[in-house]
Amino acid sequence: MKLKNLKLEINQHVAVITFNRPDQLNALNLETLAELKQLLEKIEKDAVLRCIVLTGAGKAFVAGADIKAMSEMNPKQAKAFAETGQALFSYMEQMPQPIIACINGFALGGGCELACACDLRTASTKIKIGEPEVNLGIVPGFAGSVRLPRLIGLSQAKKMILTGEPLSALEAEEIGLIHWIYKPEELLPNTLKIAERLAAKSLTALATIKHQLRKSLELEFTEAEKFEAETFSKCFTTPDQKEGMNAFLEKRKPKFEGLD
Ligand code: CAA
Repeated sequence: MKLKNLKLEINQHVAVITFNRPDQLNALNLETLAELKQLLEKIEKDAVLRCIVLTGAGKAFVAGADIKAMSEMNPKQAKAFAETGQALFSYMEQMPQPIIACINGFALGGGCELACACDLRTASTKIKIGEPEVNLGIVPGFAGSVRLPRLIGLSQAKKMILTGEPLSALEAEEIGLIHWIYKPEELLPNTLKIAERLAAKSLTALATIKHQLRKSLELEFTEAEKFEAETFSKCFTTPDQKEGMNAFLEKRKPKFEGLD
């Protein structure tokens, strides 16, 4: 697949996707969203790839949706644009592979929303992450108002979205938005180490956990418990459950399906 706005590197079982429009601070336009969707669909079907890392070229992770493109949109086009971003980010959540946002710089608006749709977030000490849409006279459009309160609580989400003021890495870590912080030069190597650790786990279990957690927020408590018991039980039909438990009892490292 020929890539224009993205770069792809494969590190054994880990796919590293880099947003590659540094002159526009990797702002998301329709073309980039479509390219990312196509690439993720290919990765999803690739049995070798067991974890995905998203990062940005230059000084930004992603500085938001493309303001130049949005400035020319009418309300109908704006709605379609929001729905395209939302569908892509929901697709990412539903992919089996865990996705890590490796936040190397500005993660603003759509960039913050993209990071929120990833399963885990690492960041350099230099980042700024926030939802500055209010300063443009608009509101979040790629599900920031939906995911942020679920991730960090309504109170912190209100602070971010109403003030539009970005957070530092430390501030974002304090409220649970960022999981790990590293010096800029150590960010990607350390993120790859986390990705490799995830890639060595049971992909079936990881995919089930992603699904289970998403569902648990949609369901009422006892329904969510029932769903958990069902997914737990389904694990016992998989070779990875046998391998994981046998490896523990035999005091060796498990070798889950799909690993060489
Ligand atoms: N869209 C389009 N272009 C962007 C952009 C964006 N979101 N962010 C930056 N750029 C462009 C700038 O226009 C500039 O281009 P030119 O060189 O052609 O002028 C280039 O990238 C470099 O940017 P700056 O010169 O502004 O760089 P800086 O270091 O001085 O400032 C910044 C960096 C603070 C991130 C600043 O660029 C900025 O505030 N960007 C906009 C951030 C933003 O508001 N994001 C939210 C967008 S709305 C949204 O995302 C809606 C949604 O939920 C779907």
